[in-house]
Amino acid sequence: MIEFRDFSLTYPTGSRPALREIDLVVPRGQICAVVGAEGAGKTTLAGVISGVVPHMTGGNPRGSARVGGRLLAETPPSELVGEVGLVMQNPFNQLSGARFSLREELAFGLENLGVDRAEMIRRVEAVMADLGLTALAGLSPYEVSGGQQQLLAIGSALVMRPAVMVLDEPTSQLDSVGAGLVFDALETLRARGVTVVLFEQRLERPARYADRVLVLDEGRIVADGPPADVLTDPRLAEWGVAPLRYTTAARRAAERGLWEADRPLPVTLEAAADGFAAALKSARTAGGL
Ligand SMILES: Nc1ncnc2c1ncn2[C@@H]1O[C@H](COP(=O)(O)OP(=O)(O)OP(=O)(O)O)[C@@H](O)[C@H]1O
Ligand SMILES: [Mg+2]
Repeated sequence: MIEFRDFSLTYPTGSRPALREIDLVVPRGQICAVVGAEGAGKTTLAGVISGVVPHMTGGNPRGSARVGGRLLAETPPSELVGEVGLVMQNPFNQLSGARFSLREELAFGLENLGVDRAEMIRRVEAVMADLGLTALAGLSPYEVSGGQQQLLAIGSALVMRPAVMVLDEPTSQLDSVGAGLVFDALETLRARGVTVVLFEQRLERPARYADRVLVLDEGRIVADGPPADVLTDPRLAEWGVAPLRYTTAARRAAERGLWEADRPLPVTLEAAADGFAAALKSARTAGGL
């Protein structure tokens, strides 16, 4: 579905490449999270997959990048509409500014494509139902919460039925309620078989929702694997990524012999709680407490 081969990109004003030797295959339907420090190249990679970079930013690509078999270097962004949906960090920037209700805003992209009216209504109603926006359909995009605006941005991409959805730090502007709404929407995308590439600086959500996690450091992919492996990698801090507190707590316990030797380090609160409960039990059994 997404296929990068030895892909590098240098911006016109950049002294060094923003992406370096990216080799990446994301199969259809996978939820892939990309984490990395500030400036690691997340937005650049999101932009390449969605056709914005280098077409609209400038930049010198090397190697190849394909989405759905199309070579991105030869595909203008307008031809990727419908193939790839992009949701940016700030939902406010993605509102059309030209529509006065959520329902009309969701229909905006389809109107531009000249989609048949009955089909348009069907798709918009279905997306609103999927994302829990139906009750808000008549409200102005400017009077709903940030979380709801972000859902609207996701919905606006989703009505186009993209095969790939790129989410660039979609919850960084939101409170935990808003972030919860967005991550519930990931389940909708999963159910629809959409391929998702989610870019995040923080690890809590990738730990819970991703099938696979990649780490970007200075434009390179330095780790790639299941969340439970990548997110417990001791090199995370070297890559400028703060480890999960659950992992850190368990690692400290393990260093003092207070974590079962064969138990993997946890990446969720539940796994940490189970591990500490087991450690407590065996310490009691051994008469250590
Ligand atoms: N349009 C641009 N022109 C020139 N350089 C750029 C441009 N956009 C990003 N860069 C540079 O490319 C590198 C990667 O930036 P990018 O925005 O992709 O990182 P990021 O991981 O998204 O960071 P953040 O967490 O701050 O969003 C940085 O060194 C940045 O300064
Ligand atoms: Mg960014």
